[in-house]
Amino acid sequence: MGPFSAPPCTLHITWKDLLLTASLLIFWNPPTTAQVTIEAQPTKVSEGKDVLLLVHNLPQNPIGYIWYKGQIMDIDHYITSYVIDAETIIPGPAYSGRETVYSNASLLIQNVTRKDTGSYTIQIIKLGDKTKGVTGHFTLYLDIPKPSISSSNLNPREAVETVILSCDPDTEDVSYLWWINGQSLPISRKLQLSENNRTLVLFGVTKDTAGPYECEMKNPVSSSRSDPVTLNLLSELPKPYITSNNFNPMENRNDVSLTCVPKTQGYTYMRRVNGQSLPVSPRLKQSGKNRILILANVTRNDTGPYECEIRDRVGSICSDPVTLDVLYGPDFPRIFPSFIDYRSGDNLCLSCFANSNPPAEYSWTINGKFLQSGQKLFIPKITTKHNGIYGCSARNSATGRVCSTFKMIVVSAPLGRGHVSWVIPT
Ligand SMILES: *[C@@H]1O[C@H](CO)[C@@H](O)[C@H](O)[C@H]1NC(C)=O
Ligand SMILES: *[C@@H]1O[C@H](CO)[C@@H](O)[C@H](O)[C@H]1NC(C)=O
Ligand SMILES: *[C@@H]1O[C@H](CO)[C@@H](O)[C@H](O)[C@H]1NC(C)=O
Ligand SMILES: *[C@@H]1O[C@H](CO)[C@@H](O)[C@H](O)[C@H]1NC(C)=O
Ligand SMILES: *[C@@H]1O[C@H](CO)[C@@H](O)[C@H](O)[C@H]1NC(C)=O
Repeated sequence: MGPFSAPPCTLHITWKDLLLTASLLIFWNPPTTAQVTIEAQPTKVSEGKDVLLLVHNLPQNPIGYIWYKGQIMDIDHYITSYVIDAETIIPGPAYSGRETVYSNASLLIQNVTRKDTGSYTIQIIKLGDKTKGVTGHFTLYLDIPKPSISSSNLNPREAVETVILSCDPDTEDVSYLWWINGQSLPISRKLQLSENNRTLVLFGVTKDTAGPYECEMKNPVSSSRSDPVTLNLLSELPKPYITSNNFNPMENRNDVSLTCVPKTQGYTYMRRVNGQSLPVSPRLKQSGKNRILILANVTRNDTGPYECEIRDRVGSICSDPVTLDVLYGPDFPRIFPSFIDYRSGDNLCLSCFANSNPPAEYSWTINGKFLQSGQKLFIPKITTKHNGIYGCSARNSATGRVCSTFKMIVVSAPLGRGHVSWVIPT
């Protein structure tokens, strides 16, 4: 006879014997269906908890039960078995140490892990007038924890950046569903789901597609939705421009502030002078997140084009340049040529120059008396009568400043004193 008829005290059944008996039974009698039912208690089990697979509608007079992981009834999938006569449990290769089979065929799985999910088969071996084998199936699902959405980018630039949303955790035997504004996803080329629906790619997020998004994980026993996630769109950077209290300040007299407009929250502001960064100087101060540049007591060297740039994580945009035109001068004027000795009959030709912005207006004096205006002074055929102190005044109408310089001109008498002599070199 088979191993099941042996008296308990001399029982030497191995799982191989049992499996052999079982496989012969299957061969002879294909299992009848739908009688045995299996129910999980509790119906929703979380990871780390215990679950009891209760077997209902057991056939009469079973002699043993074998539990398998999966639907294949072979050695590899054999978890544990119970021999009723001998009241013996015989574990198999798929036994993890956490499964307990009871005399009523129920299977307790303790400390359930994700690996424990999936299908289970019980084979009930029955010996009677006719040999019979009965099987039952069950699929174990875990209770779904609350999922969460992770985003590749929570602040995408509007209509430009692609965002990938993922529903976490990544779990098998679960279906993923997405919701936008509480509705299922519309069909759109801007939305693309991964094969298992766990990730959602958003191409060029706009206000309409910024969310809120929710994801749901679902299996036959449980479902759970994430908290909503809404993308915070970065709007298009506006083109900035520069305003100033004074685009024509006076050197050493005025303070100038240049302000980059508009003010945009959280962006970085930069200033450039002729494409170069600003020199470090105690006269230069930047405030308002670099939005305002203060040039204290401007100098002529501050003259030039300025621009401002606003930046964010994605890009930047520059203003048109504006020119700061510093008014200065006149500086101390100089008279050319520098020599002072002339001869009677020479032409006197002097010019005067002083740095000034705007350019200076010049006037000439001799011995304190007004002579003429203009940058150049020309007197043909001078005589000793033209001896004297020549003055040049430079005046800047914008700064109101006047600056003068003086030069002595000495005209020597012609050769042959007392005679007017026209010496023409040949
Ligand atoms: C079977 O045995 C287990 C363990 O003793 C028990 O919890 C369960 O209620 C029993 N009943 C059924 C129908 O399996
Ligand atoms: C289940 O887990 C607890 C705590 O981790 C442990 O003490 C216990 O031995 C485990 N039981 C089994 C059957 O693995
Ligand atoms: C993914 O979702 C679509 C509907 O959005 C559904 O038709 C499809 O069956 C899902 N695929 C999987 C693998 O769950
Ligand atoms: C501005 O600069 C000039 C020249 O360096 C100096 O004489 C003057 O005191 C300065 N004015 C102020 C207000 O700092
Ligand atoms: C302007 O720059 C020049 C050259 O760097 C320097 O020699 C001069 O002193 C500067 N002038 C003023 C007013 O800062």
